[in-house]
Amino acid sequence: MDRKIAIVTGGASGIGLATAGKLASHNVHTIIIGRDHAKLKEAVRQIGTNCQSIAFDLTHIAQIPELIQDIVKTHGKIDILVNNAGINMKKPALDVTDEEFGRIVQTNLNSVFTITREVAREMVKRKNGSIINISSMAAHYGLPGVVAYTASKTAIEGITRALATELSPLGIRVNCVAPGFIFTNMSATAFNDDPERRQKVLWRTPMGRLGTPQEVANTIYFLASDEASFITGAVIPVDGGNSVGF
Ligand code: NAI
Repeated sequence: MDRKIAIVTGGASGIGLATAGKLASHNVHTIIIGRDHAKLKEAVRQIGTNCQSIAFDLTHIAQIPELIQDIVKTHGKIDILVNNAGINMKKPALDVTDEEFGRIVQTNLNSVFTITREVAREMVKRKNGSIINISSMAAHYGLPGVVAYTASKTAIEGITRALATELSPLGIRVNCVAPGFIFTNMSATAFNDDPERRQKVLWRTPMGRLGTPQEVANTIYFLASDEASFITGAVIPVDGGNSVGF
């Protein structure tokens, strides 16, 4: 009777879609948030049951509290938050404008803080919840051409640890998954015009291949579930060994 309620941001594609599908298939009522109505509709159709979508642009930060209140009014609670939505931009650092830097940080970091704060305020009332953030190898070693993305993802790992210290005593676990190079729209864009970068990635990935969205979703699901009941403040790479590769 006490079915879990999850929010997955950016749930209409890639890692978010695989995560939403995994949660829904385990009887978690899953709300996917994204910007594109058509993509959201198609994702809900694909997932089939236990899934609904809300069209919302997370850069509209001032409206996030109302969004979360509406969800709580309808469903009574939120058990799981997966902060998956993100954008990237590949450009030499010396050419990146302040506007571009701010846009990436607004999506990948500022909106994550606000939605996490709003959801956590609800979770503390029930002294229960699991929050999963998504980082990147860009937070583990230097990657050229993605300075704003690197700033945002490094900060995500920092706020994961900071929030874990504040929220874990209140019953909320906060963890982070750091995917390596995963086969999605985002990586396709990064690799399309840059076969050398793709080759470099494969060279330093001991498993010698890109990961699948499902492989990341499996770890997110584990962290969201009660199986991970003593794990908080952790950053778990799902990367085929990329972060330790030579
Ligand atoms: P993707 O581009 O398929 O998914 C990102 C989703 O976020 C899209 O559905 C997009 O519409 C949504 N989104 C972006 N801005 C939004 C906004 N303002 N409001 C609402 N939704 C918004 O890419 P992918 O690869 O599935 O990325 C998911 C997460 O995984 C991102 O945080 C990304 O940084 C991270 N990641 C991906 C890696 C990869 O190799 N694909 C590697 C490391 C991290």
